[in-house]
Amino acid sequence: MCGIVGYVGKRDAFPVLIDGLKRLEYRGYDSAGVAYFCNNKIKTVKVTGFIKELERELGNIEDNPKIGIAHTRWATHGEPSITNAHPHTDCTGKIAVVHNGIIENYRALRQYLTERGHKFTTDTDTEVIAHLIEDVYNGGTDMPFWKAIRGALREVEGTYGIAVLFSEEPDRIFAARHGSPLLIGAGEDEYLVASDAAAVLRYTNRVIYLDEGTLATVKADSIVISTLDAESITPKIEKISLSLNEIEKGGFPHFMLKEIFEQPQTLENAFRGRLNLEEGTARLNGLKDYFDDLKDVERLVITACGTSWHAALIGEYLIEELARVPVDVDYASEFRYRNPIIKDNEAVIVISQSGETADTLAALREAKRQGAPVFGIVNVVGSTIARETDAGVYIHAGPEIGVASTKAFTSQVMVLEEIALLLGRMHGYSMAQGVDLIKEIKRVPELVELFLKKEDEIGTIRKIAEKYYMCNNFLYLGRGINFPVALEGALKLKEISYVHAEGYPAAEMKHGPIALIDKNTPAVFIATEDPLYDKIVSNIEEIRARGGPVIAVATEGDEQIMELTDNVIYVPQAVPLVMPMITTLPMQLLAYHIAVIRGTNVDQPRNLAKSVTVE
Ligand code: AGP
Ligand code: GLU
Repeated sequence: MCGIVGYVGKRDAFPVLIDGLKRLEYRGYDSAGVAYFCNNKIKTVKVTGFIKELERELGNIEDNPKIGIAHTRWATHGEPSITNAHPHTDCTGKIAVVHNGIIENYRALRQYLTERGHKFTTDTDTEVIAHLIEDVYNGGTDMPFWKAIRGALREVEGTYGIAVLFSEEPDRIFAARHGSPLLIGAGEDEYLVASDAAAVLRYTNRVIYLDEGTLATVKADSIVISTLDAESITPKIEKISLSLNEIEKGGFPHFMLKEIFEQPQTLENAFRGRLNLEEGTARLNGLKDYFDDLKDVERLVITACGTSWHAALIGEYLIEELARVPVDVDYASEFRYRNPIIKDNEAVIVISQSGETADTLAALREAKRQGAPVFGIVNVVGSTIARETDAGVYIHAGPEIGVASTKAFTSQVMVLEEIALLLGRMHGYSMAQGVDLIKEIKRVPELVELFLKKEDEIGTIRKIAEKYYMCNNFLYLGRGINFPVALEGALKLKEISYVHAEGYPAAEMKHGPIALIDKNTPAVFIATEDPLYDKIVSNIEEIRARGGPVIAVATEGDEQIMELTDNVIYVPQAVPLVMPMITTLPMQLLAYHIAVIRGTNVDQPRNLAKSVTVE
């Protein structure tokens, strides 16, 4: 779930491991630990809480190992504690394992191994891996250790990225993956093993992405990779273009704020080279092989989780509007178990920032089982979802480190605009309409920049946050294409400030949520100019009549709204079809400022993890 870093080479391993773990800190974790060799014996050091603690502990140790494995844990089985923190060892202490993911059949394995005399000391699912490897190893004669790992992993059901040390072979790290990401960073006479490229980047930009179901033996000067069926694989080194600068805060107090302010750039990256003004359409080479399917498509299903699901709802609106192709949006966690109906001439789109979300991945696989073409809208290049979809479009938003998704959301919407445009042009949207929309799309980065600059100067949202930060309930209301923006605004507030918030279609309010309204329950309205503007104004009146404070997001120049509330956040004028990429900004900033005033951990909110690789 969280992070793995391993190092073997000429350097002292501790600083490399700590640096790597720090780069993965953003993923959210509850404990951390390291295993290394000291006189060919394995030693482990574990802490609960922050990596700084681990760094301090390692600072008190005299050893200077050149090889080690490290882990940040986000507990799934067993409470966060020193005992349950990884690495986990076998009965003899000769094998140490760090693991990301979940071993689903761990109960059965634990029982089996206990009956065979193994002694378990933790509540984790991970510990079975160490004992199982030990068991397989002891059961064979002259068995190479890597074969024992392979034998053990064949018995394991679930997801894993693992790194293993074995004290009889103290010059190497064993690494394997199935369902959780793992890569190898290749330096000069040194290798790193990591669950995320950010952890290796300081040392090398050459990486080998491990494929599903592969096992690697990594020494300082060599690497051997094979499948779990013993077929050998030639390591393929890829260069990553990510710079260290990109993954640092760049002068902002929080990654989230940095990422909010990156949006003019990330939005532009999401359409660069993809808009064909002459023909009024989108140029999406990633989908090229499926143009015939898209021309014939009779229905689309979009599936995702959390913020990406909100983007999907905007996609539904856009695609239905432009292409008149029916779209159903489903939570990936529901879709995967629904026995979904997918007919011929239907296709599925999955959306995921991380490309590793377990529910979304399972939904993708279910859609493929049903024979549907599956397209991905993904940020992380080379992620599992990106690799398993038939085709797709990267959003190119760069690493998103704040746990609360911001820039990835607006970029997902941007890519959905492009897909809607492409589909629209295949299904009757005219060239002139396409050309007009492209012009509007191209203005978005500039409008976003304008808004952020102005907000930075005048601080309207910060002032509103100062006024209402102590309220314990918020309603977020919008209509049409801005309804999902209201949902996203409420999610942002919940995630980072721990304030309860609900998003609703504005008109739905009178069917229940209006009962919540009192002077301490602000209602945030998205009331920009569009055909439903007058209806929204009536909804605002309804809240005012019941004494509820109103915060309105309105279009620049709308003076009428000032008569209804003092709390107006003006956004630049734009056509409704692109408006969500602009109205989302005040949602993000309002949540951000309220969280900062309330003193919560903005970048790593409690209980949350950046990529949810468990069900
Ligand atoms: C967003 O702020 C959340 N952290 C969460 O809802 C997230 O969007 C969800 O877990 C899906 O993640 P993904 O886009 O990486 O698949
Ligand atoms: N399932 C394992 C545990 O609870 C690993 C969790 C993780 O990925 O951090 O310890």
